[in-house]
Amino acid sequence: MTDVTQKIKTAAPKSAVKIKAPIVEALKKAYENPTYQFHIPGHTKGNGTLPDFRKLIGKKALMIDTTDEFDGLGTLHPATGPIKEAQELAAKAFGAKRTFFLLNGSTAGNLALAMGLTKKGQRILTNRNCHRSVLTGMIISGAEPLWLIPERFDDWGIWGNITPENVEEQLKLHGDISMVWITNPTYEGVVSDIKAISSVCKKYKVPLIVDEAHACLWNFNKHLPTPALQLGADAVVHSLHKTGGSMSQSSMLHIAENSMLDVDAVEKALKLLHTTSPSLLLLASLDAARANLESSRGKRQLERAVENAKYLRREIDNMEHIHHLKPDFGYKTDITKVFIKADGLSGKRLESILEIDFNIEVESASDAGLLILSNLGNSRNDIKYLVDCLYKIDRTNYSDICYLENKKHMPMLTPIIKMNLQDSFYAPKETIPKSQAIGRISGEVIAECPPGIAILLPGELITEAHLPYLQDYEFIEVIK
Ligand SMILES: Cc1ncc(COP(=O)(O)O)c(C=O)c1O
Repeated sequence: MTDVTQKIKTAAPKSAVKIKAPIVEALKKAYENPTYQFHIPGHTKGNGTLPDFRKLIGKKALMIDTTDEFDGLGTLHPATGPIKEAQELAAKAFGAKRTFFLLNGSTAGNLALAMGLTKKGQRILTNRNCHRSVLTGMIISGAEPLWLIPERFDDWGIWGNITPENVEEQLKLHGDISMVWITNPTYEGVVSDIKAISSVCKKYKVPLIVDEAHACLWNFNKHLPTPALQLGADAVVHSLHKTGGSMSQSSMLHIAENSMLDVDAVEKALKLLHTTSPSLLLLASLDAARANLESSRGKRQLERAVENAKYLRREIDNMEHIHHLKPDFGYKTDITKVFIKADGLSGKRLESILEIDFNIEVESASDAGLLILSNLGNSRNDIKYLVDCLYKIDRTNYSDICYLENKKHMPMLTPIIKMNLQDSFYAPKETIPKSQAIGRISGEVIAECPPGIAILLPGELITEAHLPYLQDYEFIEVIK
């Protein structure tokens, strides 16, 4: 097998095309031509901060820590200068009509989509395992979720794919659905048939939003699933910081070429939701991530991530007690997200073995299994080390005491909604001991991250079935 790692280390061919990164270039220019600074940020190129912090982060990072409006870097709202140019280049790279750079992650994108495009009382068809930001958006706008219940992969303790038949059934049953908003892929990499779902949405004339927070790489490698922007979705969010190589918290929101969505309304909502002092470091990291993914070097890094994942999966196939989630009937998976489980061990126990005995940290763990990401930045040696450790675990008789906790992590219940989300969020509330909360209506969102799927929502009836998910909570906020 070829070691793609080695290939990446070789110099790029001289003829390689230089990919433009306007914010990165403007920031470099500002760094090379410093001004006497009498404006924010008040640490003034790092001088006004703790020396230990400056040492840790590096003086250079602080020297380029600036916000828009200064140094000819352009502005975010409205988009001007290098920021505007970088957003346009991103739109082209991802195949969108408009792309907005997001601070505060895809969370900001979901909030803006809800705030800009939905209204009080409107019903939004969304999957039960959507991220809490979709629901927070509905708290802001007053819209209401109508649940799409995906397949349940009980052996793996996770939610599965959404079927087009299920979407059509709901649209047929409820004539007042104003939007379909689904998560694809799931956190664990399970992929739904977006092409078929989009055809159903077109048939019923409702827009389709796809929360693709975990799939910003799909446009850049043929072994990965087809991105929703190519399959008829109207809008998509991407957490570039999760898998695309940008810095934490930076994401993108794309509006599709042929979408009829009100782009101005989304832009206005974003302006209201965003900070008025956007970090140029974060914006530059988005610009850099897009440019890297388009470059031949980035493409080789992604190829390596795919090859590493294939290698990991092949090795797990040889293990006796460890298994990985594979594509099966009716759904696909994103190969770079490797969800594994071990016989006799909970996901949390397996996670702690990897962490304590082998110094390995994974993306997340839940009741039955845990999630490993094969990333752009992982070398083949990283994966080989992981494989060696998994073989050791496979051959050792580890025991599990986590089950004694009787604690559940992956919310798999279907919420019983008694009141509108927004009305409940703003209703008079009281905080009561958890033991007295059964039969009451929740006044708060409880959603542990990861995966950020709601355990309880404002307006939801609290039942005994919630208790195993609420072990860490002594008190619950309920409607008075
Ligand atoms: C499906 C999904 N959508 C949106 C988000 C929010 O993303 P961010 O952390 O970029 O705000 C997450 C975060 O985990 C997610 O899993």
